[in-house]
Amino acid sequence: MTTEPTIEVHLAPDQLQENLRSDARIGLTATPKWLPPKWFYDARGSELFEQITTLPEYYPTRTERELLRVSAAHVAEATSARILVELGSGSSEKTRLLLGALTEHGTLETYVPQDVSDAALDSAVHQLAREFPSLTVHGIVSDFTETLHNLPRGGRRMIAFLGGTLGNLVPEERAEFLGSVAAVLEEGEQLLLGVGLVTDPAVMVPAYDDAAGVTARFNLNVLSVLNDRLGANFDPTAFRHVALWDERNQWIEMRLEATESVEVWIPELDLGVNFTEGEQIRTEISAKFHVDGICKELDAAGFGSDRVWTDPRERFALVLADRVA
Ligand code: AVJ
Repeated sequence: MTTEPTIEVHLAPDQLQENLRSDARIGLTATPKWLPPKWFYDARGSELFEQITTLPEYYPTRTERELLRVSAAHVAEATSARILVELGSGSSEKTRLLLGALTEHGTLETYVPQDVSDAALDSAVHQLAREFPSLTVHGIVSDFTETLHNLPRGGRRMIAFLGGTLGNLVPEERAEFLGSVAAVLEEGEQLLLGVGLVTDPAVMVPAYDDAAGVTARFNLNVLSVLNDRLGANFDPTAFRHVALWDERNQWIEMRLEATESVEVWIPELDLGVNFTEGEQIRTEISAKFHVDGICKELDAAGFGSDRVWTDPRERFALVLADRVA
């Protein structure tokens, strides 16, 4: 018997707009300039990201999918979770592999995908409810901090944070995030993380600078988001996409570089922003990890008994950690 999926929305559109205004003001008046990566994902940005995941150079998605395919049964064996909460679930495409194993061999009863994009969530939730008739599916449209503070109850929980998105946080934000996940879980409840591992820069950099230029369009799209939502007059053709491996920080960094001097006016902020030729905006970091490093970070946050699965080329890891007392 399929029960109708439900969705709750915790995102007021004016709150989103206010967050964008504040982020844009802080980031574009800073030296050097920067913008948080979450603003990439309007409808066009989400579509471009989906395209990125199919590029020959972009190995993370297919590596994680393959890893989930071979380790889902092991994850199912290592958990007695009844509720799976997935942060930033997007299309839930890879999660299917996990749901299959957790419902067949496991104890799972409820799947709670959370995402900021209501469009992605809505279609995912309906499809999943049909595919997994034994599961109760309840979507949450919100920011993940919001979800954490209103975590569903009624059984042992596992929080999944896949796709390597943890890498978008700088180390201080990461520690804070892991700490707040630990704070909302009870002893014995679990966190399932998917993280990119440090590998050859000749593999990592092209994944963020593909030959077809899709990542460049994805990166430049954030300027269109500022034009659409804040009335700015960025000329995207005056900027170029830059991707580099920062060895010291162990992260990939994406930037937009002004190819000439540029003056921008942002009416919604009553703010003028000038760029000298060659000036850059940092638009994303995507940190990569070593297995022992991520386990140490988990340990510091209050997790333990980590079980780790990696692909044969060790480019990606799935880590299942228990909340410990
Ligand atoms: C969705 C954050 C995991 O960092 O690899 C892809 C986003 N940026 N190409 C990543 C992204 C450029 C992606 N995450």
